[in-house]
Amino acid sequence: MNNDEQHAAYTVLGLQLRSPLIVGSGLLSDQARNIRQLLAHGAGAVVTKTIFPGCEKTHAERIYAIDTGMLNNTTYSKRSVADWLTLLAQFKREGLAIIASIHAATPEGLGELAAQVAEISDCPLELGISCLHADDFTEDTPERVDAYARAVKQRTDSPFAVKLSLGQHLYERAQAAQHSGASALTLSDTVSGLAFDHDRQDVALGGVCGYSGAGIKPLVLAAIYELRQRGLDLPIMGCGGVGQGRDVHEYLLAGAQTVQVYSALHQDMFGTLKRITDQYLELRQVSAKRAMV
Ligand SMILES: Cc1cc2nc3c(=O)[nH]c(=O)nc-3n(C[C@H](O)[C@H](O)[C@H](O)COP(=O)(O)O)c2cc1C
Repeated sequence: MNNDEQHAAYTVLGLQLRSPLIVGSGLLSDQARNIRQLLAHGAGAVVTKTIFPGCEKTHAERIYAIDTGMLNNTTYSKRSVADWLTLLAQFKREGLAIIASIHAATPEGLGELAAQVAEISDCPLELGISCLHADDFTEDTPERVDAYARAVKQRTDSPFAVKLSLGQHLYERAQAAQHSGASALTLSDTVSGLAFDHDRQDVALGGVCGYSGAGIKPLVLAAIYELRQRGLDLPIMGCGGVGQGRDVHEYLLAGAQTVQVYSALHQDMFGTLKRITDQYLELRQVSAKRAMV
């Protein structure tokens, strides 16, 4: 593989990425050390765990592995906003490709948080407004997406993505994000899932929670494909069930510009990221050769 191929740039939210593979928001990106190491191991960028002002933990946060992926009942970052602002300023000094995931209890609160981040960092934002199992979440609607995105647009010039979950009125929610000033969409957050713990004869993790991993990939691919067929032209970061290089390729074929990976990294985090990146680069090289024949 030549240097040009290895360093071909992908652009999202004003960031020039050397790889289309971005590490999605989650427990792993709640730690500065992981963020730095993931970038050192080839991630195009890393999305922080969602920063939420005054986040209070009312339950034990856990993950639960199932055959087709994992369930989790985690919500927002354990770190305070002040803590994150210090870290983001440091990441900026280090020139790291970071996307700050943010959310707040109200659109005004989110606008305020976006302004605080923009004061100390030029990093783009991802509005993590669609965590289906969070206490503050009821139902996602185009009006809700519009209110949050508009509030952020009013308070900052930072480019931002709106992260959505699969579900009803997805096209209308995506359009609302675009019309309210989003520069990209991230699709998808976890989807609602439930499992039974057979030893305890009870619902795992106490109720409906977030389902991620291999099982959701065809659903997210279908959603992106359909959004493109209906004419949505907003850049998309495809996210859900990436575990192999060919998954990255499929997301790009479906119409995404870049791809996020999360759950797969819970096993052998750095090795898995490198494996997926190498597999994708190899696939891309084979496709380029085929195209030349
Ligand atoms: C344990 C865990 C924690 C997560 N935390 C967040 C979060 O704080 N903010 C967010 O936007 N998404 C969060 N996610 C969702 C992931 O970023 C991603 O959208 C989803 O898991 C689908 O991708 P995957 O199948 O590659 O994991 C979390 C997912 C998991 C499994």
